[in-house]
Amino acid sequence: MKWSLFIGSFLTALAAQGMTLSNWIFTKTSPDDPQAEWKQVTVPHCWNAQDAQKGGGKENNKDFGYYRGPGTYRIKLPDTARFDGKRVFVRFGAVSNFAEVYLNGEKLAEHKGAFTSFGTELTGKLKPGAGNVLEVRADNSLRREILPISGDFPVYGGMYRNVELIERDPVCISPIANGTDGVRITQHNVSNESADLGVSVTVDSALPDGGEGTLEIALYDAQGKSILKASKPIRLTPGESEHQVDMTVPSPHLWQGREDPYLYKLDVRLSSGDNSTLLSYPIGFRSVSFDPDKGFSLNGKALKIKGVCRHQDWEGKGWALTEKEHRRDLDLILEMGANAIRLAHYPHDPKLIAMCDAEGVILWEEIPFVDSVGKPKDPAVEETTKQQLMEMIRQLGNHSSIVVWGLSNELLHRSTDDPLPLLRELNALAHKEDPYRKTVVAVNRPGNKDLCSIADLLALNTYPGWYGGGPEGMGGAIDSLHKSYPNTPVAISEYGSGASIKHHDRNISKAPKAGGKWHPEEWQSRSHEILWDKIASRETTWGTFLWNMFDFASVWRDEGDRPGINDKGLVTFDRKVPKDAFYFYKANWRDDIPVLHLQEKRATPTSDEKVAIRFYSNMKNNKVFLNEKEVPGVSSYCRNGFATPPVALKRGRNVVKVISKDDKGQLHRDEAEWIYQPDSKGNNDGDVKK
Ligand code: GCU
Repeated sequence: MKWSLFIGSFLTALAAQGMTLSNWIFTKTSPDDPQAEWKQVTVPHCWNAQDAQKGGGKENNKDFGYYRGPGTYRIKLPDTARFDGKRVFVRFGAVSNFAEVYLNGEKLAEHKGAFTSFGTELTGKLKPGAGNVLEVRADNSLRREILPISGDFPVYGGMYRNVELIERDPVCISPIANGTDGVRITQHNVSNESADLGVSVTVDSALPDGGEGTLEIALYDAQGKSILKASKPIRLTPGESEHQVDMTVPSPHLWQGREDPYLYKLDVRLSSGDNSTLLSYPIGFRSVSFDPDKGFSLNGKALKIKGVCRHQDWEGKGWALTEKEHRRDLDLILEMGANAIRLAHYPHDPKLIAMCDAEGVILWEEIPFVDSVGKPKDPAVEETTKQQLMEMIRQLGNHSSIVVWGLSNELLHRSTDDPLPLLRELNALAHKEDPYRKTVVAVNRPGNKDLCSIADLLALNTYPGWYGGGPEGMGGAIDSLHKSYPNTPVAISEYGSGASIKHHDRNISKAPKAGGKWHPEEWQSRSHEILWDKIASRETTWGTFLWNMFDFASVWRDEGDRPGINDKGLVTFDRKVPKDAFYFYKANWRDDIPVLHLQEKRATPTSDEKVAIRFYSNMKNNKVFLNEKEVPGVSSYCRNGFATPPVALKRGRNVVKVISKDDKGQLHRDEAEWIYQPDSKGNNDGDVKK
C-alpha cells in the first residue's frame, strides 16, 4: 500500500489522560522512499512478534536472529478545530529502543531507551485543519549507548505501549515532564499515627508572564470521604515551574500488601483563571524495612516475600501487550499465591504496576543494566543509563507497590569495561531522585565485594539444581551470602529450572543438561520442592523471586522442546498451561483456599509399569484411587507434596484419582487417565524422544 493512497486515521478511545492513538500505518523501509510499502497496524505494536521467538540468534549479540533496524509509524491527526484554544501534547508509553518524532516532516523530539515514556508538545506547530501527519521513526538496532546491550531476552522493536494525544489549557500541569504526567508523590514517616505526604507538581504556563494559579490537593478515603485538603497560591513563570505541597495525613489506614491493599485517592488540581487541570492518583500509605537477620517488614509487620520474576513478552505478541495480557499475567501470579514480583530486567508497563497497587503486590522495579556496560567505555552510555534510571524513578515512583529500585543484573558476567564507577553513580542518583526507597543489585558473583557493597541491598541469582550442583545447594547459598555480608539485607533474585510440558520422566533424580534438548517437567517440580524447602526454612533473606513466572523468548537458546525459548517458566509462553511446579507453589503459598493437584497428568502414554502417584495438597485428609481401588500408604515426601508407594498400572487405560477433604468437610478431587503401554517410545514421554 502506498503512503499517498492510504494513511492511518486517528483514533478513538478516550483514555483518562487523552485520546489514544491506535490506528497507524507502518513501514520498515525508508519513509522517504515514495515507493515505501505501508501497512495498517494497531498500536501497541511490535515488529518482532514472530521472528524474535523462533531462535537462531547468536549469544554474542552480533547475529541476533531477528530484525533489528528501523521502523516508521505515521498517523493523520484529528481536525485541529477540536483543539480550539487548547494546547496539544503527545505522549508515548514506550518505543523501542530509539525514537524520533516528526510533525509534518519537522523533527520535534527524540528519545533513547525502550522502556520509559516520553512526550512532546504539538501546539503552535499544527497546521489548521485535518492534514497534520505525526510520524515516529523508531529503531531497535543495537546502539552501544542504549542499554541493554546484553542478556538472554530479545530487544523487541516497535511502538509497543499506548500513544496518547492530550489536550490542556494554556496554563496546565505538564503532561510530559520527563515522561511523567507532571505530578510526583512521595510518602515517608508512615505509621499508624501519621504519614508525611509530598506532592510536587510541574506546572507549564503558556502565558508570557507566567501568571498565577492555585494548587489544591485533596485526599479521599476508599469510601470517598474527604480526609484532607490543602490549597496553595502559586506564582508562575513562563514555561515549566515546580511547586511543592507537603501535608501530614492523620491516622492513615495503612496499605498492608495482599492482606489489605487499602488505597486512598489523591486529587491534584491546578486552577489559573479559567484554566484548570485535575488529576487523580490511587495511593497506599506504607513503610517498609529490610533487616539482615529478620528480613522484610511492611508497616512493622514481618512479611515473607514469596516472589516471582516476570518478563513482559507474550508468545505471538512480543512486547505489544494490552491491559488484558497484563491482567492475565497478574491473575496467574496471584492464583499461585505470590505476593511480590521482580519486574525483570527493565521498567514494565505502568498499567500492570497500577494493578499491583490495587492488589497489594510488592514490586522490585529495575533498569536494563544487564551483564555489561559495553566496551569501549563511552560517556554516552553513562548519560543514557542515568537518564533511564531517572525516568524510571520519576515515572513510576508514585506507585505504592514499588519498594525497591534495581540498578543492575549480573554485572561482570561478561568481559567488559569496569561497570562499577557507573554503578556507584547510579546508586547516588537513585537516592537523590528518591530518598525514600532502597536500591538493590542482583549479582551472580557474590565473591566480588566491590560490586556487592554498592547498593543498600544485595540479591543473588543462583541456580543450584540447574546450572550446577543439586537443589539442596540453595541452603548453603543463602547461608554463605548472609555470612559474607552480615550487615546487608540479602535476597535471592533468581532461582529455578527449565521444563517442557512435552518432556516427562517420572523417575528423574538429577538435573538434565541445562543446555540440552531434554527438559522433563518432573525435574522442575523435584528441584523447586527442594529449593523452596531450603528457602522456607531460613529467615535471613528479605525475599526470594523465582525465575521465571512465564517462559519467554531467548533467541540464542536452543534447548528444551524448541529453539528460541527460556523454559524456566512455571507457566508456558502462551500462558495456557501452568506446569506442575506452579501447583507446588500454589499448594504451599495459598492458605486461603483448598489446593489439590495431581501431578504428571501429561506423562502418558508411559512405558513404566510401576509408578508412584504424586500430588500436591494443602489439605490433611487425602485419598488416592487407581482404577477405583484405594491405594494405601500415601505419605508426604515434600512440603505439601504426597506420593503413594509404586503401584502397578494395568495395560492400556488407567484412571487415577485423588480425593481430599478440607477443614469444612468439603471434598475436592483431581484425576487423570494414564495409558500404560510397555512398548511406548522413550520414558513416559508421549510422542517426544529423549
Ligand atoms: C541469568 C539472568 C537471566 C537469565 C537466567 C537464565 O542469571 O539474570 O536474565 O534468563 O539467568 O539463565 O535463565
